[in-house]
Amino acid sequence: MIAHLASAEYYGRDAAERGARYARARFEDIHADILDHLPPPGSDVLDVGAGSGRDAAALAARGYRVVAVEPAQALADWGRARYADQEIIWIDDALPALSVVSAMPRRYAFILCSAVLMHVVAEALDRSVATLAALLTPRGHLAMSVRDRGAQDPAAIFHNHSEDAILEAARRSNLALVHQRENPDQLARPDFIWRAYLFRKID
Ligand SMILES: C[S@@+](CC[C@H](N)C(=O)[O-])C[C@H]1O[C@@H](n2cnc3c(N)ncnc32)[C@H](O)[C@@H]1O
Repeated sequence: MIAHLASAEYYGRDAAERGARYARARFEDIHADILDHLPPPGSDVLDVGAGSGRDAAALAARGYRVVAVEPAQALADWGRARYADQEIIWIDDALPALSVVSAMPRRYAFILCSAVLMHVVAEALDRSVATLAALLTPRGHLAMSVRDRGAQDPAAIFHNHSEDAILEAARRSNLALVHQRENPDQLARPDFIWRAYLFRKID
């Protein structure tokens, strides 16, 4: 782990069970909203908080050059093994700084940050979005989804971000809203409503 991160420690527990559970959902179902906005095959794509690697693998299978960031190493190891047939660069890094990825010269036509930002404290939301925006190529797209903390979620690692806070953070980072949606949970958890946002970088 790049540094001690309570959320990564949480996600690293029961990595095999969690990885298998996440892998039961399909990228195309969870992210149906963004399929029409994906860049041409061959483009660089970043998956931040990649978890089991389900989405990174689907993107690699679609012909993208994929970098997957995952701070919970047990989960990243599960994903590496499960999707060994796909060419994915796995990196141990974390928001808000993404210091390893930001130090690399590669910039991304598309960034996916699915179900991750609720693990960033409110004070770090702006910086996290700014970090992601800085990693985009001009006119690149950033897809993010969040949900509010549920009754069973540990308060120490789940932080609610209002719609206004997300839209304001994006505006400050020169990101234009393409669309926003509310989606049900694809793992059939009835209490979870996901708010999904797609932004485009204004150059
Ligand atoms: C709910 S899972 C989502 C996994 C995957 N993106 C998906 O949609 O299935 C949240 C993931 O974010 C990772 N994570 C937690 N805090 C993070 C941070 N500060 N920066 C990057 N990833 C983080 C966790 O380790 C976990 O894999």
